[in-house]
Amino acid sequence: MSEKTTSTTILLASGVTKTFTQDGLAAQALKGVSLSVGQGEFVSIVGRSGSGKSTLLSVLSTLLKPDQGQIIYNSADLAQATEAEINAVRHRDFAVIFQFHYLLPYLTALENTLLPFMRGLRPVSAEQRRRGLECLERVGLADKAARLPGQLSGGEQQRVAIARALVKDARILFADEPTGSLDSATGATVMELLAGIRGDGLSVVMVTHNEDYARLADRVVRMEDGLVV
Ligand SMILES: Nc1ncnc2c1ncn2[C@@H]1O[C@H](COP(=O)(O)OP(=O)(O)O)[C@@H](O)[C@H]1O
Ligand SMILES: [Mg+2]
Repeated sequence: MSEKTTSTTILLASGVTKTFTQDGLAAQALKGVSLSVGQGEFVSIVGRSGSGKSTLLSVLSTLLKPDQGQIIYNSADLAQATEAEINAVRHRDFAVIFQFHYLLPYLTALENTLLPFMRGLRPVSAEQRRRGLECLERVGLADKAARLPGQLSGGEQQRVAIARALVKDARILFADEPTGSLDSATGATVMELLAGIRGDGLSVVMVTHNEDYARLADRVVRMEDGLVV
């Protein structure tokens, strides 16, 4: 992949704060974080446990609303947007994968991949099905499309989760410790896959505490105690 000297910013967070209150105790998870993500860029976020990585990823991906600050996407501030606007962006442009993949156990690998297309009991179109198979092929699982998650290894299950993120042609893929539950060889395979899928159309923002994996990214952002350092 060719290195770009200039890159268009696709997502820009500035001055983001977030405090959690639990049992009367306040924990300031984000203390004013700013971060930009370029189009097609692979950014990794590293830092110790408790430094605020997951909170930042949740705020960037609109799963959590920040207390203060801006999240600019498509020249709109997602921190101020309505629920309907946020849902539209999240549905159309964002994909999220977690440490534990959240596949539905009674659906096949292909059906899990096609979940973003499914609306109630309406069957997906032949075109969508073809696209689902294409995405499974991209993650190296074309021959296992008919398997249930329980018949797949942990790494394969995580690759199905990646295929599911790819199927909707998202602009940004957010991943929180995607290799956290995998052994190192399997984790490395998943990482290479993530590093390979980013490109002009897709940015990847990944949280990890594995420094070797972080180095596969275009840029490493380090967090300490609620701040980017
Ligand atoms: N839902 C929550 N309720 C209360 N405190 C939370 C919640 N989520 C995170 N925190 C606190 O915010 C801080 C940052 O957590 P987190 O973003 O999960 O860190 P990391 O992902 O780097 O381990 C920690 O002190 C954590 O205990
Ligand atoms: Mg975390």
